[in-house]
Amino acid sequence: MRLTVIGTGYLGAVHAACMAEIGHDVLGVDVDTAKIEALAAGRTPFHEPGLDEILARNVEAGRLRFSTSLTEAAEFGDVHFICVGTPQKPGSNAADMRYIDAVVDGLAPHLHRDTLVVGKSTVPVGTAAYVTERIRTLAPVGTAATLAWNPEFLREGFAVQDTLHPDRLVVGVTSPADEDLLRAVYAPILDSDSTPWISTDLATAELVKVSANAFLATKISFINAIADVCDAAGGDVTTVAKAIGYDARIGPRFLSAGLGFGGGCLPKDIRAFLARAAELGVQDSMAFLKEVDEINMRRRLRTVDLARELVGGSFLGRNIAVLGAAFKPDSDDVRDSPALNVAAAIQLQGGRVRVHDPVAIDNARAVFPTLDYALDVDKACEQADLILHLTEWQEYRDLDPEVLAATVRSPRILDGRNALPVERWQAAGWTVRALGRTFAGTTV
Ligand code: UDX
Repeated sequence: MRLTVIGTGYLGAVHAACMAEIGHDVLGVDVDTAKIEALAAGRTPFHEPGLDEILARNVEAGRLRFSTSLTEAAEFGDVHFICVGTPQKPGSNAADMRYIDAVVDGLAPHLHRDTLVVGKSTVPVGTAAYVTERIRTLAPVGTAATLAWNPEFLREGFAVQDTLHPDRLVVGVTSPADEDLLRAVYAPILDSDSTPWISTDLATAELVKVSANAFLATKISFINAIADVCDAAGGDVTTVAKAIGYDARIGPRFLSAGLGFGGGCLPKDIRAFLARAAELGVQDSMAFLKEVDEINMRRRLRTVDLARELVGGSFLGRNIAVLGAAFKPDSDDVRDSPALNVAAAIQLQGGRVRVHDPVAIDNARAVFPTLDYALDVDKACEQADLILHLTEWQEYRDLDPEVLAATVRSPRILDGRNALPVERWQAAGWTVRALGRTFAGTTV
């Protein structure tokens, strides 16, 4: 089939490459010329394990091309996937719909034959209804251009795996013909994995995505709230999480307490959900999401407070090594990164902060140019009074605490992700602190 993927950020670039990988002829479209040139040359403009290979392979095979032209997209494709961003609107909780609107207004006037437009971006419920109307008004082919909504659940760092082997495929459609067309698009995936297929109306499909993200964010903030209680009462949040996770109704995943969630999705999606709920008059039902957001943001303050306490009450004259800049491991994405937020706050309070990350330093530098960056862990930790472990890269779990003890000024570490082998660090003479856990014999 001939597909276009409009918007080639994390979601679109992965979707385009994976659709080519399963055998379709794909045209990726973006307004960013530099990005399109890189992708056309088979280069991924961001860090995503496995994407480089399938991108290069499919560009090489001629199944995947790139363009900046929506006119060309309209001529080429029978199915158009919209994958542009819906960031938080400046000065508001709501989603900024300008990129969706620009794609629809740019594409629809060129739709001269039967076409299916498929929204994949995360949007406020009700978006598909107005986009349907807009396409109907603008497309020369009129009602023969239809709209479906097919939310995407991919996680950065696992994006290729999540696209080729999704947990489920959800489509919001307005006719059996559109559902059949989408089944044909995904046939290779459906055939090989017997993936659950959920076909529903447009509003429900939109809601599935925002509900999933709201639930995940709530789960993380729930365990982080329990971490505060553990700190107050002397419990261990990692054991609480492990023990409740054995209950199949609760499940163990997304119960890692620590610095909380960041990234380009969960924070802005729960805020947009709150804003949309208010427009729909059901703000009371979703009010808990405000608390989910507050609990999450307080993790960053709590980490800074604990760090300050660990270095004797003031950051002045103190060297602080920050391990991790990406919002999570296996990603170079620093959007709303809790780690960078903490690093910047400590620097503003007079600390000398040096940040390390295996892949995200360039992106971090672009957002926080005044922070000091180190290309290796040793350099970041040189003469440190405190190490903050803020993104749980495997590389940090594998560090040898005995070796590192010779580099720092004081062997003190705050494990902001509850991911380090604490006993090993303690055995090597380190003072270890964490959020939601108290270690026997720990003195600051
Ligand atoms: C998320 C959703 O998981 C995905 O389905 C959706 O399509 C996009 O948003 P992503 O932003 O890639 O994906 O990251 P995710 O793996 O969900 O992690 C989000 C944040 O939560 C990270 O900052 C991570 O460190 C944090 N997190 C995750 C925790 O603090 N504790 C956990 O137990 C799990």
